[in-house]
Amino acid sequence: MKRGKIWAVGGGKGGTGKSFITSSMGTALALKGSKTILIDADLGGANLHTFFGLNRPRYSLSDFFDKKVPLQEIILQSGIPNLGLITGSIGSLDSEGINHAQKQKLFRHIRTLDADHILIDLGAGTHNNTLDTFLLADNMIVVTVPEITALENMYHFIKSAYFRKMKFIFKTYNLNATIQDLWKNRASHNISSLKDLITHLKESSDHIRNIFDSEMSGFAVHIIVNQVRTPRDILVGLNLKSVCMNFMGLPVIYSGYSRQDDAVQKNINSKEPFMIFNRLSPVVKEVKTMTENILTGTNISVRKDLDDGCLSKIL
Ligand SMILES: Nc1ncnc2c1ncn2[C@@H]1O[C@H](COP(=O)(O)OP(=O)(O)OP(=O)(O)O)[C@@H](O)[C@H]1O
Ligand SMILES: [Mg+2]
Repeated sequence: MKRGKIWAVGGGKGGTGKSFITSSMGTALALKGSKTILIDADLGGANLHTFFGLNRPRYSLSDFFDKKVPLQEIILQSGIPNLGLITGSIGSLDSEGINHAQKQKLFRHIRTLDADHILIDLGAGTHNNTLDTFLLADNMIVVTVPEITALENMYHFIKSAYFRKMKFIFKTYNLNATIQDLWKNRASHNISSLKDLITHLKESSDHIRNIFDSEMSGFAVHIIVNQVRTPRDILVGLNLKSVCMNFMGLPVIYSGYSRQDDAVQKNINSKEPFMIFNRLSPVVKEVKTMTENILTGTNISVRKDLDDGCLSKIL
């Protein structure tokens, strides 16, 4: 059995559209013919099933955690061919509800699911359980809206994920005391940012530089800007890219954007999956584009979209 690609969708701030984007990208993959499973890992505020018009899921992750039902057996039909759904219900990955052993068991089961793509919808915030689930993914995706508070939370989320991964890696090399000492005495080393810390560590020895090159160089986050209303909002993604590179030294991929469309809310309220009931909405095309870009690791062609006047056509 082949191992499916794992996608995790997070981003720090609540209400930016993580669940909408996860459900829509999952639908786009399934419509292409890929066997896809969505997992609602926002256990405290689980609502992914609502995007498919499902009221009371028959099974949920609590059957997996409490009744020891294998993950593969609690997959529900989403109503869309090729698209399965694992719902969350009680407890929260953000709380102390899930302990270390349960988390590891969940990750083991996720890795063995029979699917081409497994998309995990994360809750808001930067709890360690949320970050660990994000780091499990082959495709790490953050969804933001073009508002300063969401952008701040997103930077914090990306930095926290990077730092957590760095700590794990250094632990395996018995070097975590090195990071901790350095961070504790950062003022005396003139370290004021994550980028400074990374530079300092890389310059401290060839061994550490090699660890960064081999273990951390693959850390690339995909950014999606949701609910854009103006061409300037689309450009926010480009600014995010340069801020992440210049201030954190982290490469990010601007995978796509999706405009604000009142039909999203209407469809949720009338229990109609957006991607199926709005085939003519530009959002459907935008979701398909971001999905394709994530599959191929491509940046969106922002300039081309702006030159085409893509937003002015409907606004
Ligand atoms: N592109 C869009 N256009 C219009 N409304 C949208 C769009 N994307 C999301 N919304 C609306 O924003 C609200 C929040 O979306 P969603 O539940 O996907 O966010 P979330 O990030 O998953 O939130 P939480 O952090 O609470 O899990 C929903 O009511 C949804 O209808
Ligand atoms: Mg959500």
